[in-house]
Amino acid sequence: MEPILKTDKHLRLGIWGLGRGAAFIKAANDLNIDIVAGCDTNPIMREQFRKTCPDAFITADDTEFLAYKDMDAVLVATYFPCHAEHSIRALEAGFHVMCEVTSFTSPGEGVRLLEAVEKSGKVYNLLENYPFTKENMYLEKLWKEGFFGEFQYGEFNYLHNCRMFSYKYCLPPDFPPIEPGYTVHSWRSWFNFHYYNTHSLGPMMKITGLRPERVTAPPTGVSLPGFIPESENAKVAVALIQMSNGGIMRNLIGNSTSDNHTDKRIWGTKAAAESLGHGLHIRLGSTGFGPNVHVEPQWPFLGDFADQAGHGGGDFWELYYFAREVLENIPAPWNIYEACDVTLAGIMAVRSQEANGMPMEIPDFRNKDVREQFRNDFRGMTRSFDPQKIFPEGHDTAITSRFNFLMINIETLAMDLRTALDGAVIYEQIPNPADRLTILETLKKARRQVPVLTQYMEEANAIVARYPGCLAAEALKSMMSLADTNGRDPAELLDEKLDWALTVKCK
Ligand SMILES: NC(=O)c1ccc[n+]([C@@H]2O[C@H](COP(=O)([O-])OP(=O)(O)OC[C@H]3O[C@@H](n4cnc5c(N)ncnc54)[C@H](O)[C@@H]3O)[C@@H](O)[C@H]2O)c1
Repeated sequence: MEPILKTDKHLRLGIWGLGRGAAFIKAANDLNIDIVAGCDTNPIMREQFRKTCPDAFITADDTEFLAYKDMDAVLVATYFPCHAEHSIRALEAGFHVMCEVTSFTSPGEGVRLLEAVEKSGKVYNLLENYPFTKENMYLEKLWKEGFFGEFQYGEFNYLHNCRMFSYKYCLPPDFPPIEPGYTVHSWRSWFNFHYYNTHSLGPMMKITGLRPERVTAPPTGVSLPGFIPESENAKVAVALIQMSNGGIMRNLIGNSTSDNHTDKRIWGTKAAAESLGHGLHIRLGSTGFGPNVHVEPQWPFLGDFADQAGHGGGDFWELYYFAREVLENIPAPWNIYEACDVTLAGIMAVRSQEANGMPMEIPDFRNKDVREQFRNDFRGMTRSFDPQKIFPEGHDTAITSRFNFLMINIETLAMDLRTALDGAVIYEQIPNPADRLTILETLKKARRQVPVLTQYMEEANAIVARYPGCLAAEALKSMMSLADTNGRDPAELLDEKLDWALTVKCK
């Protein structure tokens, strides 16, 4: 096949962290990138990787991985709080680095990483993919042409209910429970979502070319059920960010009952763009009541490859840009300075939240005096519990190993039960026959699932009775509250709702 890049040179890549890291294999195969090595401490991830890359050097030991010499670059996709340390080790071992979000978790780590990149002379790219969807790439092009004028106001969302990823691995298709089953995920079970701000602030920065300068983030108090109690991750995180031209964006991220990764409003002084679930609309005429026109952006080029990649094509483009920078010396988006801007905005949002919403300056690490102020500031992510210790000391692992399995399955079954019962509440107001059918089907499905839900709830209640008050017991109770039927027998209730729904006439 013709190479996509204008060179025959190849880049030999090692992937460090084979969960998310393995998602790039397809795009790498399309490009001049040969996957030559993979490293993960988890045997499940190594086995999955071996199936797709049987000829690669595969190891559980990261020192051995970094000593592998037939490699030019490393893709870091290890635990979220370890990215800075792992990127620095890879740079010091002589490799170019692509790093998954986020770059670092404290300002001091950021200074160390930035200086390691500068000293190495190697390429460093943050793998922030959301700016590279069809819509966002098109908006960036129009913005650069001056179509929108000056940025005035924007809203971006990255709302993603990741509750299940506290209890199971994120990326293998069959999502096995976290092992051992009486522990929860190392960072997803507790982290503050402000640190994961890049998928929404990132597009804003790339479209407008502006840098975030100031942030204010109020504390948000209400948690979703089913998380480990006290987990910051159970909440939404909202920040107002002032950009370098004085315009403001609202960044809304976190866990909620309304997932949304793509909604946006981005208003300029000459035109406004909005994408709110019905495609991209552009309001023309430099006035709030001008025509609001639906547009369907196309890829600038290489669309056939981008269409096959994850995250709306973004997973292809970020690899493409990185390979192009290393092999053809064309600068890629998300160099270390831009990576610092987006990452520090999240860190400062957490600090603003801790200070009751007080505005915080977002340091610009291009300025060496500013760097000095933060060189020794290693205050980073703090957690209110230990993911390895959610049961009391000396617990019986034969019983408690079932924790993750039960959490995952009760969540799934409770979700169907809620959909069925809550769907029945609003059934008469649903005009669309297909939506009504969905509710009817879910009523039947939930009814069939009652025996197994009951069995899992009994098992969960036995664990709660054995270890009352511990974090795991509180999380189980909280997850089970999703299947609450106000004391009614669920089977009886579902039969009743199903019989009733079948008599309701469509208007
Ligand atoms: N850009 C995106 O769209 C996107 C999507 C998913 C995940 N991510 C990011 O990718 C990263 C990885 O995501 P994930 O879902 O695979 O997370 P994860 O935390 O579940 O997985 C990290 C993997 O790295 C391995 N690992 C950790 N430390 C290691 C070490 N020292 N040596 C070898 N292996 C090690 C773990 O065993 C695990 O398989 C996360 O930081 C996440 O933020 C980004």
